[in-house]
Amino acid sequence: MSQPNDQWKTKIGFILAAAGSAIGLGAVWKLPYVTGMSGGGAFFLIFLLFTLILGTSLLLAEFAIGRKTQKPPIQAYKELAPNSAWHWIGILGIISSCLILSFYAVVGGWIITYFFRSLSGSLTDPAAGDYEVLFGSVISNHWEVGIAHFVFIIITILVVQGGIQKGIERVSGIMMPALFIIFVVLVIRSLTLDGAMEGVAFFLQPDFSKVGGDTILFALGQAFFSLSLGVSIMVTYSSYLNKQENLVRSASSIVGLSILIALLSGLAIFPGVFAFDLEPNEGPSLIFTVLPAVFSEMAFGSVFLSLFLLLLLFATLTSAFSLLEIVVSTVAKNHPQRRKAAAWIGGLGIFLLGIPSNLSYGLLSDWLVFGNIFFDNVDYLVSNILLPLGALLIAIFVPLKIKREDLKEELLRGSQLNHGFFNVWFITIRYITPIAIIFAFLDVLGVW
Ligand code: PFF
Repeated sequence: MSQPNDQWKTKIGFILAAAGSAIGLGAVWKLPYVTGMSGGGAFFLIFLLFTLILGTSLLLAEFAIGRKTQKPPIQAYKELAPNSAWHWIGILGIISSCLILSFYAVVGGWIITYFFRSLSGSLTDPAAGDYEVLFGSVISNHWEVGIAHFVFIIITILVVQGGIQKGIERVSGIMMPALFIIFVVLVIRSLTLDGAMEGVAFFLQPDFSKVGGDTILFALGQAFFSLSLGVSIMVTYSSYLNKQENLVRSASSIVGLSILIALLSGLAIFPGVFAFDLEPNEGPSLIFTVLPAVFSEMAFGSVFLSLFLLLLLFATLTSAFSLLEIVVSTVAKNHPQRRKAAAWIGGLGIFLLGIPSNLSYGLLSDWLVFGNIFFDNVDYLVSNILLPLGALLIAIFVPLKIKREDLKEELLRGSQLNHGFFNVWFITIRYITPIAIIFAFLDVLGVW
């Protein structure tokens, strides 16, 4: 039996924690640079459509599994499909989460390092020189980023060991509102720069001539990654939710908040990039190389840059909590006395797993597999193979293994929504979502 302590205390607490998992490097780091490289507004529009239709349907599917069984992933799949191999979706989710957190924490470490450098004013000092060179020298400085990587993991462990209510819910309840407020301050600053509108137009005016097959498929992967789907994280979080909350309303709030942040993120970044004549298609280093350059041109630049990095740190941490929680909940959901040990052993194990990713920008930079450094291989394996595979299996599992009536009961409880809505969702999860994922998957495997 779950104990009161094991549950989200409030509905808003659950929404902020789940939105915290969703909103992370995907929305604030990846989305702006991918949008920048893929020609702007058209990519963003396609991403929005996928998020609204496919992302929401999969989010509801994960919620239905978690809330119905109230169990951590492996046990949840076992309960719904006993004596079968379906629980491997849970195992796959745990492996994927450990891999994501292993490199996520490395980037978390970069953010911590940049944050302290920014506080000291050294990042926005005109003497800082070439930001590309600076970024390269920071991420190859093993001791500095190694310690920061460790600090990031320790913060994550300390919060997760506190439990759902006293750890994740409490801390997300502070970090998420702070993140929204900082974003609004930055967007106002950014939109009031001379020449800001050019950046807004780049971000929001779709130019479909730039859209190719790749763009569409990339937008699909990004939509799933940005909502933390496919790894059973949302199964885990909803297993701590009481039976009265309405799942459709919670899912809409989470998707709405994620989209809002994706929008704010573009509006905070592109106006600055255009106002200072920088290139939007800089790639992964966009926020580490272009943004310090933008801020160094502004009055109080180091204050704004520090705020931005703090926001990014909060976004990254709240996603990291969910990635560690899936591991911890697997062994500790029904045995609270195991939580502390599980958080420490799991977290430190994931830290060790991340060391090769951390070193791959320096000591191990010559160690190439498939022509790529270790960090990029892990990112590729997770984002393009394990995550879409997990999403596909969940989309097949739910309509197959949970009775239609049970699904309807679980999703529509406590809501005014009618059966038409349920039917649309059912068709989307049963047909549209798996077909879309299979297309994306085949493309990643280079079938056409
Ligand atoms: N949603 C997070 C982001 O956009 O940065 C990344 C993520 C977290 C993906 C948790 C998957 C996950 F299970």
